[in-house]
Amino acid sequence: MGKIIAIANQKGGVGKTTTTINLAASLTLAKQTTLVIDLDPQGNATRGLGMRPDAARGTVYHLLIGTKEWADVVMKTDVQGLDLIPADIDLVGAEIELVGVESRETVLKRMLKGIRELYSYILIDCPPSLGLLALNGLTAADSLLIPTQSEYYAMEGLKQLLSTFQLLQKTLNPNLTIEGILLTMLDKRNILNCQVSEEIRAYFNDTVFKTEIPRNITLAEAPSHGKPIIFYNPLSKGAQAYTALAQELLGDAGGGEVASVAVNSSRTYVGNGQAGVMIQQEVLDRVAVASATANGSLPSVGNGQAGVMTQQEVLDRVAVASATANGSLPSVGNGQAEVIMTQQEVLDRVA
Ligand SMILES: Nc1ncnc2c1ncn2[C@@H]1O[C@H](COP(=O)(O)OP(=O)(O)OP(=O)(O)O)[C@@H](O)[C@H]1O
Ligand SMILES: [Mg+2]
Repeated sequence: MGKIIAIANQKGGVGKTTTTINLAASLTLAKQTTLVIDLDPQGNATRGLGMRPDAARGTVYHLLIGTKEWADVVMKTDVQGLDLIPADIDLVGAEIELVGVESRETVLKRMLKGIRELYSYILIDCPPSLGLLALNGLTAADSLLIPTQSEYYAMEGLKQLLSTFQLLQKTLNPNLTIEGILLTMLDKRNILNCQVSEEIRAYFNDTVFKTEIPRNITLAEAPSHGKPIIFYNPLSKGAQAYTALAQELLGDAGGGEVASVAVNSSRTYVGNGQAGVMIQQEVLDRVAVASATANGSLPSVGNGQAGVMTQQEVLDRVAVASATANGSLPSVGNGQAEVIMTQQEVLDRVA
């Protein structure tokens, strides 16, 4: 049965959406099927995953006002194993329309009945407030993940949020736990950042994730390409950080292992025609080769499903890897012996 995690902080711009998108994508690399629920009228999680609401299917707004079921509004994203319930500006209306509804804070929880069995994780991207929408997210959730920047008012904001959490535990959601506080956009050269993050760790101890998310420009760029960072630039510090966060989360839950190109491979990666962009299968393939090569063992060979490669694919990739290591031009096939590639394909692979 899936775990529902609300990603919330009433403070704006602290990295809630960035964390939702990138944690979700990293979880899929550990073969955890994940659903993102965009619960913010800004619709940033929807756009950041490269999706647009479909008027005919509806959004989380229609789910909340009861005109659609979850099965109507769920969309598949480009990332295999990652689905989305989208949002757009219409969601503003739900705050008003729900006012007269009985048990209006538990609407989302009721609407999600039956969906939890379909996913390993459901991540809810909450809006920057503690209004009715965020309360619906927190009431539907099993746990609360709190991204925070290490800035001057951070402590006050965290204490405020934790008192709301305690109130929720006493009233609407007695089983709600804290998944963790996540330090985001950390800049180790910034003295205030360092002081505040130390203060947060000293005060909240083990509640704070060991993993920290550094300030990394690639994390800010990726949404405009509609891609989670691990598929936009898997070797970036941001990708490494969110992969580590997923691993920490799964480790606590005794879960699987997140495939990590960033950690396992010092080699540059293969694009799919656009420099710097990989498809999910390529990330998984690379990891298989990188870890096998690092171990001095043979890469795993399979049938083209997630994490496994055909024999020819393995041979091709190893050919690229060794040619690159020798500084020579790679000979690359595409499943048939001695097939010629376009110049761009070769450049992509060598890059
Ligand atoms: N680690 C990071 N390094 C650099 N930029 C980041 C990082 N995390 C987030 N950003 C950028 O900071 C801005 C705010 O991040 P994000 O949208 O994730 O915050 P949010 O808490 O969801 O905001 P809101 O409260 O408006 O929903 C975005 O432009 C995002 O791309
Ligand atoms: Mg957001």
